[in-house]
Amino acid sequence: MINQIKQKKIFLETYGCQMNEYDSQLVRAILKKENYEFVTDERKADIIMLNTCSVREHAHRKVYGRVHHIRHARGKDSVMIGILGCMATNLRKDLLEDRSLKIDFIAGPDSYKHLPQLIHEASDEDRKSYDVTLSEFETYSDIYPSRTEDGVNAWIAVMRGCNNFCTFCVVPYTRGRERSRSPKNVVDEARRLAVEGFKQITLLGQNVNSYRYDNYDFAYLMDEVSKIDGIKRIRFTSPHPKDFPDRFLDLMAANPKICKHIHLPLQAGNNRILDMMNRTYTSEDFVNLVDKIRTKIPNVALTTDIIVGFPTETDGEFEDTIQVVAQAAFDSAFTFKYSQRQGTIASKEYPDDVSEAIKTERIMCLNEIQKNITLKKNQAHIGQVFDILIEPIFQEKPSINSVGRTDGNKLVILSQNGYKIGDMIKTIITGATPHALKGDPSIS
Ligand code: 5AD
Ligand code: SF4
Repeated sequence: MINQIKQKKIFLETYGCQMNEYDSQLVRAILKKENYEFVTDERKADIIMLNTCSVREHAHRKVYGRVHHIRHARGKDSVMIGILGCMATNLRKDLLEDRSLKIDFIAGPDSYKHLPQLIHEASDEDRKSYDVTLSEFETYSDIYPSRTEDGVNAWIAVMRGCNNFCTFCVVPYTRGRERSRSPKNVVDEARRLAVEGFKQITLLGQNVNSYRYDNYDFAYLMDEVSKIDGIKRIRFTSPHPKDFPDRFLDLMAANPKICKHIHLPLQAGNNRILDMMNRTYTSEDFVNLVDKIRTKIPNVALTTDIIVGFPTETDGEFEDTIQVVAQAAFDSAFTFKYSQRQGTIASKEYPDDVSEAIKTERIMCLNEIQKNITLKKNQAHIGQVFDILIEPIFQEKPSINSVGRTDGNKLVILSQNGYKIGDMIKTIITGATPHALKGDPSIS
């Protein structure tokens, strides 16, 4: 059995956020070192691993469905199934006890270095093979991810975990306490990526601007990464509105390599709801921050996350969110219906009492309003000239023209194809929809 395990082929599927994508690359690096082979056809796999997310309900249900589907297609014993990621931590007990799922091993986000051992142990029928212990220290800084990205943008996780405990959010429980990698370690990784030909680095963390290592803050880290030759652009995601010192905004304004885009999660625009969410700011604080950002960085693109239907949210309180959305004039927004997550403060203290119908009504209303704002913002770019970093075209649509992104992260479809991926092209904007801009490099 053990010999068989040594040559196993793994199919790894990733759900959820960019941090999970990054973690999957760490998992690939760890297991490749142990001579496991990664395959893209799941039918050829001896081990199927699902790197799960439990931030929102959708991903959760999807994973249960996926496991049942795999067992149905492959039978009980012909394939091992491993569950990784946030759902592993949060639902360890349910997963192992649900015999119909027959999960072979489980590894939480801080246990990936133990995967070779866990897989080995999982071949013993009588043993429950799991490790979901959260660490205060694990940053995987000694592992260079086995990247699957397209060659233009590479992600670097600079901090992990979160100490904010927003009441709706499961991340502090599934990913544990905040911890940051040393600046030297991050800069070394970025240098190596530049040598490999990557043009853009996105610094990643659950709460990225809380980055702190000794006396080094996030502004210092961004500045250091920006000094690397070959790196044309630096981005970051996702920050919390509480950590935007002037020093950081001034650096953003002054440093041409730092993209003028901030993803600034609002979550709600009503102060009672923000307080219940434990967001630690009021709607006035948020709007003031938006004004300050726009004063310091006039052409900044702002995007956001918003939750509708948080427990007890009234129609009037939802209207407050609409007001802030109108005032902040985000370039785009990710909107979510509140969904109760096991283990969170909200799940213990506040009944999920806004009906599904009202949540749907509110999200549709919000999306309609935001769509119009996004369209207006995009139309305002018509006639302006932007530097576009050319990206690979999505595989499914090989026939469309070259595509790239503005500094503000807006997708631009060019009038021609054939531009070299990774090049920066000057383009005049000739058209706009709520989803993308059109550009014609020949007339700029
Ligand atoms: N319900 C709905 N949306 C949520 N998010 C996080 N937790 C929940 C939840 N329980 C959203 C937040 C966060 C984004 C990543 O996911 O808006 O910013
Ligand atoms: Fe979750 Fe809030 Fe931390 Fe973001 S800042 S990961 S929403 S607890």
